[in-house]
Amino acid sequence: MLNTNPGHFHNQGRLNCGVGLAATIGEEIKKRGCGKVLVVTEEILVKLGVLDTVTQSLKDAGLDYVVFDKIEADPSAHLMDSIGELGLREQATCVLGVGGGSSMDSAKAASILIANPGTHILDYKGDYTGVNRYKNTPAPCFAIPTTAGTGSESSWNIAINDTDNVKKVRAQSPFYVPVFSILDAKMMATVPGPVAAGCGIDAFTHCFEAYISTNGAWAFSDFMALEGMRLISEHIRQFVANPGNTEAGQAMLIGATLGGMCLSQAALGIVHGLAKPLSAHFHISHGTANALMLPHVVKYTWRANPAKFAKVAEIMGVDTRNMTDIQAAKAACEAIAEMCADTGLPRSLKDAKVDPAKFEQMAEDCIQGKPFFLNPCKGTVKDLVNIYKNAY
Ligand SMILES: [Fe+2]
Repeated sequence: MLNTNPGHFHNQGRLNCGVGLAATIGEEIKKRGCGKVLVVTEEILVKLGVLDTVTQSLKDAGLDYVVFDKIEADPSAHLMDSIGELGLREQATCVLGVGGGSSMDSAKAASILIANPGTHILDYKGDYTGVNRYKNTPAPCFAIPTTAGTGSESSWNIAINDTDNVKKVRAQSPFYVPVFSILDAKMMATVPGPVAAGCGIDAFTHCFEAYISTNGAWAFSDFMALEGMRLISEHIRQFVANPGNTEAGQAMLIGATLGGMCLSQAALGIVHGLAKPLSAHFHISHGTANALMLPHVVKYTWRANPAKFAKVAEIMGVDTRNMTDIQAAKAACEAIAEMCADTGLPRSLKDAKVDPAKFEQMAEDCIQGKPFFLNPCKGTVKDLVNIYKNAY
């Protein structure tokens, strides 16, 4: 049944998708009349030679560039500010993010900062009500993901680690979406299996949470979310087993990009809400934290809308023809739990060495971030504590 809720879709970016296309980035940047390029990336990608394809392409196009390769997980506002300063010092006129969400988000941040000298990335923080805080349009930002996860190449969001206030904040605008991105599975061939697994489950979770969100989900986001879940659930096992499998890799990249698009339309919910405190307190990676919470949130939530969950079972390959919506919704719970288990990520909070004494505090943290209210199943802090207990 068509979701007739009102909705919006605004993405400014062009996507080129295909194995080997990362080698064309230099020509693409040149075509757009940009001068010096600030490349934002991770040291490991330089060491593994993954960046060589990009730098060679920039050289071949005759473009001047400077590389910043000190991106770490959860980049801080200070780091983003310093990349902006580097861009200004080097007189870069555009930014290219090559890497996972941290690199691409930092590149998006630098593109705002080099167009607005003297400002700081935290000047731009805000939720959906705080969009477009910049004075000058951000400099052109280009992106090449080397993981299939955050969907930063297509999302409005920049996740910022506000280390001074010990919280994660974000900047959001449709004009923060990179103007041009390349989805090339060749760039993911060296990603370690467990990273591929965590990123893939994160991408699936973006689609799933956007699909069930009570804030912003509409026909477009539903189409994208369902197709994203279908692609990821069909290919994640093969991709985790062999990240060099470019056919599975392209499917994962498209699924993650769809996730980035739909989370810009429909807000995320309690999987991310419960996962965030796990990362904050126990340094569990974002993807693993989502994988730990997802099966239990699904089990908690399906009762609110069995027909919607029945559709999830169908796109995950369950033969639902002779099932009631309730039976199919329960089958979706099993299919999602099985997918998470098959990726080889930790399966319980106990395995992940989480201290149960923190459950109450983490549940409170989740409520503070409000995502609980975007879940179709309405409950209390006690329900969130129970979800943690079930996941232990
Ligand atoms: Fe996420």
